[in-house]
Amino acid sequence: MAEGEVSRRAVLIAGAAGAAVVAIGGGLALWNLASDRPAEPVPPDGDAATSPDPDAADTRDGETFREPEVLASVDGRLDLDLAAAVATATVAGAEVGVLAYNGTMPGPTLRVRPGDRITLRLRNDLGAVTNLHTHGMVVSPEGNSDNVFTMIDPGGSFDYEYRLGDDHPPGVFWYHPHHHGTTADQLFGGLYGAIIVEDAADTVPVARERLLVVADIRFDASGAVAPATRFDRMLGREGDVVLVNGQALPTLVASPGERERWRIVNACASRYLRLRLDGQRMSLLGIDGSRYAEPRELDEVVLLPGNRADVVVTTAAGESVLRTLPFDRGSMGMMGAPLSAAQGADLARLSVSGAAGEPGAALPSSSPRDLRTEEVTGRRTVTLAMGGMGMGGGMAFTIDGRGFDHDRTDIEVASGAIEEWTIVNTSTMDHPFHLHVWPMQLVEIDGAPVDRVDARDVVPVPAGGRAVVRIAFEGIAGRTVYHCHILDHEDQGMMGVIRVA
Ligand code: C2O
Ligand code: CU
Ligand code: CU
Repeated sequence: MAEGEVSRRAVLIAGAAGAAVVAIGGGLALWNLASDRPAEPVPPDGDAATSPDPDAADTRDGETFREPEVLASVDGRLDLDLAAAVATATVAGAEVGVLAYNGTMPGPTLRVRPGDRITLRLRNDLGAVTNLHTHGMVVSPEGNSDNVFTMIDPGGSFDYEYRLGDDHPPGVFWYHPHHHGTTADQLFGGLYGAIIVEDAADTVPVARERLLVVADIRFDASGAVAPATRFDRMLGREGDVVLVNGQALPTLVASPGERERWRIVNACASRYLRLRLDGQRMSLLGIDGSRYAEPRELDEVVLLPGNRADVVVTTAAGESVLRTLPFDRGSMGMMGAPLSAAQGADLARLSVSGAAGEPGAALPSSSPRDLRTEEVTGRRTVTLAMGGMGMGGGMAFTIDGRGFDHDRTDIEVASGAIEEWTIVNTSTMDHPFHLHVWPMQLVEIDGAPVDRVDARDVVPVPAGGRAVVRIAFEGIAGRTVYHCHILDHEDQGMMGVIRVA
């Protein structure tokens, strides 16, 4: 982007960040972000974050949409090195300090197939403990596979190996740090990337495929990622800048009458995405690693933190904007405390013009397994709660009355079981509930039955409400976690340990 073309939003960021970022960014302020030490409590309006500018959306000079580098498996193998470190990024024309895998935000996209083996050496140059989680992947959570109990010290490295079964579900998954206590800080700083598992018999006829990794971020006056305030930690931090593949409001160019497959990842630490693409037709094939029986034509797609959407866009000539609308996910239930930051934002522009293309054959249907028709071998209730005093004098975030303990196993399940879980939320805020390894089929939300097969790895549990899910604990065994995917809540204890054996 040339100097004269810097958008108003960029000026806002640059105005706060300025040239000082080169000197300061990545130094002092980022140490705070990457450290194990909780950030200093700051009054909610005391941080120097840039505020959203209603006029910012009027600029017509966005960057051209780009995607992260793709590392694809060859002959069933993908071997790669990933380094987590402080990096400099250009966001809307301004230089800022972030955290990044291999120097880019998002990190590289890993593209693999069922049956593949991934070997990944993670090098930790963050100055704080980290590790890696392959969110949604149906792989072992033990040993040097997707083991979130692993801790990699600063300056150290770790060799991960992931073996995908021949029956691994196709779809879009993602990777991010998962060290309890700093997961939100590290992800919000820029550590995330996508994993695509190709469909061996892919029958979705599209003109092109795109990956959109959506993540929000906030910068302080020095151009470093803003540390969370005390209220941010309770509500779940939301950034005032929402990026797609690390870009602010990029432009996608397309021809009319074509089908495009968009894989959209919600990599935000806390923000719910309520996506609209007015003027275009969206068909949702499925959420996370699961496919609906039939594509669903929708005006809005809601993605909880951690969710992914597999969407087919049928293009129509004109200019459209991919937007996220405000979403009210509750409050702390305390007098005088702020509400969850439920701001909307423009994410990307879609510019469709030129000669009309061919939409191609009809979208395929599929026949997903329906656990509602199978015998349940066990039932349990899991209760999410907030209140009282937690670590460091903040609010406590618990599951079944307890905060996370690395060494305690909270739930034991026999391998092969099919369980029905009722996840109860006694708090005044929504919690997106995530279980590693084994997908959950949503059966009921707040008493209303879900009338289709809807399996996913993050499910909504509304404030004061409940969700009922069914889970098949088959194929893979081991010890791993379930937690709220508002990562500030997870870091403050809203996580438990499950062992399937
Ligand atoms: Cu996306 Cu346990 O995490
Ligand atoms: Cu996960
Ligand atoms: Cu939560």
